[in-house]
Amino acid sequence: MLKMVVIAALAALVTTLVAVLIPWLPDSASEEMDRIVFTYWFATIICIGIFALVAGVIVYAVWTFRVQPDDETDGPPIHGHTGLEIAWTVVPAILVIAIGVVSAVVLSKNADAGNDPLKVQVFAQQFAWRFEYEGGVVSNELVMPLDRHVQFEMESADVIHSLWIPEMGQKQDVVPGVTTEIVITPTKTGRFTLICTELCGLGHSTMRAPVRVLEQDEFASWLEAQGKEEAGSGDEAAGVQELGRTTFGNAGCGGCHTFTPAGTDAEIGPSLDNLAADAETAGVPLEEYIRQSIVDPDAVVVEGYQTGVMPTTFGETLSQEELDALVAYLGGEGEGSK
Ligand code: CUA
Repeated sequence: MLKMVVIAALAALVTTLVAVLIPWLPDSASEEMDRIVFTYWFATIICIGIFALVAGVIVYAVWTFRVQPDDETDGPPIHGHTGLEIAWTVVPAILVIAIGVVSAVVLSKNADAGNDPLKVQVFAQQFAWRFEYEGGVVSNELVMPLDRHVQFEMESADVIHSLWIPEMGQKQDVVPGVTTEIVITPTKTGRFTLICTELCGLGHSTMRAPVRVLEQDEFASWLEAQGKEEAGSGDEAAGVQELGRTTFGNAGCGGCHTFTPAGTDAEIGPSLDNLAADAETAGVPLEEYIRQSIVDPDAVVVEGYQTGVMPTTFGETLSQEELDALVAYLGGEGEGSK
């Protein structure tokens, strides 16, 4: 008996060290992640207990009751042990129910946005994220206030994506045709990364967005400043250039394409630094070529690239104004430095 206890204690010690010493989860930065971490530990501690018990009994039994090399006899006949059978049915049932109850409570609390959440609309598309705040402020960076419930309402323009900020735990699919929701309540200021965690195409691994958590008053001034920036547009040419630049960012072009003026260097689609040469190869005027490549990307495909990779939805998702501005921006119009 003592032997069995020693083996079980050793098994418990080793598994506890593996659980504690390896940083399996990132440091929590949200209320929801705190609860998720609690659930993990609750289940892990139960598992370590059961593993130690099973390991203790098995190793002890294998060691003590192994047959001698010349022993050809049958073992003694065994009948059931009612007490043991009741124990190994009831105890696991209680443990599984306990894990179920804890998980259900955590899920329900993590879905609770309280009575005054900050609402953020999330638009996902191959391969970019866009965030829209109340009052119409649009951003490619997700900025959140500290210690306030942020409720995300999420839509996808094409395929299934999934929103995940590892330090904040919460994870939710973004499904075309359905508005999904998720709540995050940041508990730490700083910078994080939002990751698309559903394989959504060639650019899946590049589909990330910067996240910043600010003190509540800093957040308020950020939101106000963003609102003013959008309202105030200077002269018309600069306005078009500016709209082209923001459209390039919001539509996620930089997720796949290199375009030096925008500072992007992705290589999933052809480089947009060579548009003039590509238009000449295709024998189409530059402006027309750019417009066609955005709206009907498979009409002409640059050598070395495949059809069907670039989304074909931009003709519908971009307004005429945005499309014109984007064409002008990519064509280098009104840009002195090129
Ligand atoms: Cu979007 Cu993966």
